[in-house]
Amino acid sequence: MTGGHVSLDGRAVLRGVDLQIRAGEVVAVLGANGSGKSTLIRALLGLVPLSAGRTELYGVPPARFRDWKRVGYVPQRLLAGGGVPSTIREVVASGRIARQRRLRPSSAADRAAIARALTAVGLADRAGDPVAALSGGQQQRVLIARALAGEPETFVMDEPTAGVDAASQANLADTLSKLVASGRTVVLVAHELGPLEPLISRAVVIKNGRVAHDGEPPSAVGAHALPGHDHLHPHAEPAEGGPLTLSPGTATTGE
Ligand SMILES: Nc1ncnc2c1ncn2[C@@H]1O[C@H](COP(=O)(O)OP(=O)(O)O)[C@@H](O)[C@H]1O
Ligand SMILES: [Mg+2]
Repeated sequence: MTGGHVSLDGRAVLRGVDLQIRAGEVVAVLGANGSGKSTLIRALLGLVPLSAGRTELYGVPPARFRDWKRVGYVPQRLLAGGGVPSTIREVVASGRIARQRRLRPSSAADRAAIARALTAVGLADRAGDPVAALSGGQQQRVLIARALAGEPETFVMDEPTAGVDAASQANLADTLSKLVASGRTVVLVAHELGPLEPLISRAVVIKNGRVAHDGEPPSAVGAHALPGHDHLHPHAEPAEGGPLTLSPGTATTGE
């Protein structure tokens, strides 16, 4: 994205974002609630239009991009409601669509990828259950499995661990670390990194629709110092001078 602006309901939500993700990076997009993280992710994928600037996927503007099998997207949550009682297996299988030719029945490769994805998130024994009956954290695991099933080169995940229990977060970290070791690219939004933290190679902090920090992940800092960690502690850093802005050798842009 170069000079990306997005307005929603007449309000500037992204205000001049320059961001380039390189192959093999594991980028955490951090920031307070409402800072524009989801809007950034959606704009990068062409799901919301830019009012100014431009963005490209593998060198192609989203409107002309056709190679969707290269990208796996985990949205922030499943849409609630809806009358169609999809099973876990159906939702995960939908992750293969970009790989399938029209009217072709699913192949052995499709079935194997779906089974691997279900196993990776610990839902293989529940594949026939309706997703509507699942908890929020379990639905999030279904969405992760859907992205895994597509075997994309790049994973774009919006708060993949929100509402997900600790064991499943550790599972996701394990799965992602294998994918990263095999050269995949990951862009993920997180409130707290938890077990994903060791995987992160770069942190992009969004503040009021702009990039406030782009560089070192907050590895030595811990979850308490992450932006978006809302409650105050007696030892809280001053709002404008937390450890993220102090780490040496990182590019920090002001507002
Ligand atoms: N469809 C929309 N219409 C109007 N405003 C929106 C819409 N979606 C998000 N916003 C606003 O844009 C801002 C950024 O939202 P979002 O990108 O979801 O932030 P984050 O993911 O960092 O919590 C928020 O103030 C939110 O209320
Ligand atoms: Mg969001």
